[in-house]
This record gives sequence, C-alpha cells and structure tokens, in this order.
Amino acid sequence: MVTDEVKLPLLITGDGSLTFFSTEFGQAFHNLSGAAQEALEKFVRPCRLEQLVLERDPSHPIHILDICFGLGYNSGVALETLWQIRPGFPVQVIGLERSPQVPQQAWQAGVGSTWSFCREWQQFIEQGSWQSERWQGQLLWGDARQTLLQVPLAWADAVFLDPFSPSACPELWTVEFLQAVAERMRPQGYLATYSCAASVRAALLEAGLRLGSTPPLGRPWPGTVASPQGEDLPPLSQMEGEHLKTRAAVPYRDPTLCGERSQIRLRRQQEQQRSSLEPTSAWKRRWQQLQVVHPESSSS
Ligand SMILES: C[S@@+](CC[C@H](N)C(=O)[O-])C[C@H]1O[C@@H](n2cnc3c(N)ncnc32)[C@H](O)[C@@H]1O
Repeated sequence: MVTDEVKLPLLITGDGSLTFFSTEFGQAFHNLSGAAQEALEKFVRPCRLEQLVLERDPSHPIHILDICFGLGYNSGVALETLWQIRPGFPVQVIGLERSPQVPQQAWQAGVGSTWSFCREWQQFIEQGSWQSERWQGQLLWGDARQTLLQVPLAWADAVFLDPFSPSACPELWTVEFLQAVAERMRPQGYLATYSCAASVRAALLEAGLRLGSTPPLGRPWPGTVASPQGEDLPPLSQMEGEHLKTRAAVPYRDPTLCGERSQIRLRRQQEQQRSSLEPTSAWKRRWQQLQVVHPESSSS
C-alpha cells in the first residue's frame, strides 16, 4: 500500500486552520471551508460532549475514540471545548492513525500551537502517548481495522469517524469494521461522521446503531450521528430515508477485516448488481428538482 511518506502538501482552509492534501487518496484531509470548524460542528457537537461534561461525575473520565486521528483536530478541539466548560475535567483519548508523520507534520506546521495544552499536545504527538491528572492519550499506529481491536469493549462515550470518503477508503466504512466500532461504544455513547452516504448509514444500521442527521456545514448535505441507545437523534429527512431504500444503500463488506480495497469495492458492486432495491438514479430524479443530491449517491 502506498503511504504518504513525503512532506504532505499543506492547504489553508476557510477558517484559517490548516489541512493537508493526500496524493494517495486524491482528497484534502478536511472540508476546505474550515478544518477546526468542521471538528467542532461535525464531530464534537454531534457527540454531545458539551452536555456530557456538565452532567458527568469527574470520577468517570470522558472517553474519546478518534478514528483516523490525522492532524488531530477532532481530539484537540474536543479537549479545548471540554476544558472551556469544565477546566481540568478528566478525559481519555485513543487515536487510531496509520501514519505518524501526519500528526507530526501537522504539529510542525503549527496545528495545536494555540491550544491551551499545546506543550502537552506536542509530547502526545511526538511520543504517541500522554499521561497527566487531567488527561491521558494514546495513539495506536497502523491500520485501524487491527488497532481498533486494542480498544476495550463498551469504552467510548464519543467516536469521531473521519476516514477519507467511502469510495476512496472503503475499508474503514464496512459493516464489519463498524460493528467492531459499535461494540466499543458505551450504550449512551455517540458516533459522529461527516458522511451521509447511504452505504455508510446502512452499515451503521446493520452494526446495530440508531441514526440521526447532523446539520450541513460547508456543503449542502448533512453528516451523520449514530448511537447504540442514545435518544433524541435528529431524524433523517424523507429524502434521506428514501435514499436508504436504494442500491446506494448496499454497504461495503470486509468479512476478514483485512481485505484489499479493490476487493471490497468489487464485492459491493456485485451485491448491487444482484440487489432488488430501487436504482439510485430513480430516487435521484425524484429529488433533484427540489434539492441538491449527495454525489456519493450517484454511483448506482
Ligand atoms: C480525512 S483524514 C482525517 C483527518 C483528521 N480526523 C483530522 O482531524 O485532522 C484521514 C486519515 O486517515 C488515515 N488513514 C487512512 N487509512 C487508514 C487506516 N487504514 N487506518 C488508520 N488510519 C488511516 C490517514 O493517514 C489520514 O490521516
């Protein structure tokens, strides 16, 4: 597998925060409207961390599982947000990331330098772990499909699910991977992702999670929040509900959790060809007069 070994091309996003461009995946690491803003609005808020820190007894640290840690914005913005509300509240972070050079180059480029805990963050990024009274962090390097298995069961209050897009990185959006993620969530925990692809939502449902929609940010379509037992999830619209009854909702599958990307894509295509679900083009025609339809849906 090709990895981003060399210096990653740097981009400045709309809110002034930095991101990288991945030549391997052909995508920026963030929505160009704002990397830091995306972390807050697409990940921290949908996981309801601001409410949780007000309600939780400090003898029970908040547990954050950051899948595809990348530059570290999601965890960093979460810590900054939580401690603005309740300074020093205990937090534990586990980050899963394939390439140590991504957070290390991000730190060198200045990501995290304005956070109140920036010196601690630097050590966390450079050593891959941090331990103090108020927070503990561990970065597990490697393919998240394997490193996830080191995360304790029923552990996470919040899961940030932030891989590259499903078509570019299908191995981290499969039913089997998301089942393993769901097993690591507390019953009242929340998972947030920027994706609203029907394949992803169908996989989350098959993994036993309930679904909700998160507000659009920097693009016309929403993100997704999911939970084993959490309540009051913002309901999907009629258009989104109907999307889940089309062939776009055939999920990616990876029964061994180590399949090749090309194999995972091919398996889905074959399942779509056999599927009796409505072709996505028919759904798209029904809705395109009224709304902007998500491009991930156009493939089938
Ligand atoms: C969209 S970026 C994540 C951005 C990040 N959440 C942030 O706030 O900066 C996707 C990340 O997934 C990592 N990645 C790609 N494939 C992976 C895999 N199989 N396991 C773990 N990490 C992976 C990439 O190195 C990249 O850092």
